[in-house]
Amino acid sequence: MRHLLTLADLTTAEFERIFSITEDLKAKFSSGLREPLLPGRVMALLFEKQSLRTRVSFEAAMVHLGGNSLFLGQDVGFGLRESIADFGRVLSEYVDVIVVRANSHMTAVDLAEHSNCSVINGLTDFCHPCQAMADIYTVRELVGGRLQGRTIAWIGDANNVARSLALGCGKLGIRLVMAVPEKYQYNEKKLAWIRQQVPELDLAITADPFEAVCDAVAIYTDVWASMGQETEREIRRKDFAPYQVNAKLMAHAQKGAVFMHCLPARRGEEVTDEVIDGPQSVVVQQAANRMHVQKGILAWMLGTQSPVSTTEKAPSLTIVDD
Ligand code: CP
Ligand code: NVA
Repeated sequence: MRHLLTLADLTTAEFERIFSITEDLKAKFSSGLREPLLPGRVMALLFEKQSLRTRVSFEAAMVHLGGNSLFLGQDVGFGLRESIADFGRVLSEYVDVIVVRANSHMTAVDLAEHSNCSVINGLTDFCHPCQAMADIYTVRELVGGRLQGRTIAWIGDANNVARSLALGCGKLGIRLVMAVPEKYQYNEKKLAWIRQQVPELDLAITADPFEAVCDAVAIYTDVWASMGQETEREIRRKDFAPYQVNAKLMAHAQKGAVFMHCLPARRGEEVTDEVIDGPQSVVVQQAANRMHVQKGILAWMLGTQSPVSTTEKAPSLTIVDD
């Protein structure tokens, strides 16, 4: 049994394996075939925050694979009626996998530690591994499979999505250049944690978005205030204003560079309509790949050739706080 709480939980070979399953299933899906690799399997979606893409792409993925899913919202009283440990112990008697979207990453860690089934992180304040996997898969499609040595530019907040992208880039030999206002850059401890998980990561951090985009094949941004940071929205809007991805910034990128966003976007803040709706934007392909890559993850995790359990403590069970 394996969990996927951060991308540090996967080896490079496991990334490649999941991408290869994804490629196969996506090609079959395009030709009208939905291969039922997981008949009778049940997935619970335990969500403390709102979601369109993660929820629906996981549910559709499981249906295509011949399994079933249960969306568990507020009514199950997660975190309210009983301990997370009791909740996990009981829920995992009924289902084969739990996808959790939690306010605090430690909630997902606690749930995984007490569940007798696989737990997948569907976003926490700390990271968003399924998003970054789909994003890297999207770049892989766009560059014809050759990821090694490519550069992705991250513009904006060094948030949950950025952290997962950093881990994924490290595992797959992609260079990551982050343009983040100084006040919001990783502190020493956070940087040390990333370096410890992916010592091979080629990471550059700058405060200059124009410097960041010049060698990149993809320019990626996300909201300036993530879910849970709503009270900081006004101050962040001012602090991040020079980091908007607009036509002027895109003009500094290489010819052929694409624009990426995990969505939902706050148009007019981190990105202009002109860029997100323009010819360089691949945001819909990214969102579509959430479903395909999650099929790859589910088939890898729960299928007949499921991965060997690790007896070591998973790296994702240790995180760093401020
Ligand atoms: N990108 C993403 O995770 O979207 P949702 O919040 O809609 O799931
Ligand atoms: N960083 C964003 C991502 C949403 C998919 C958030 O956490 O709200």
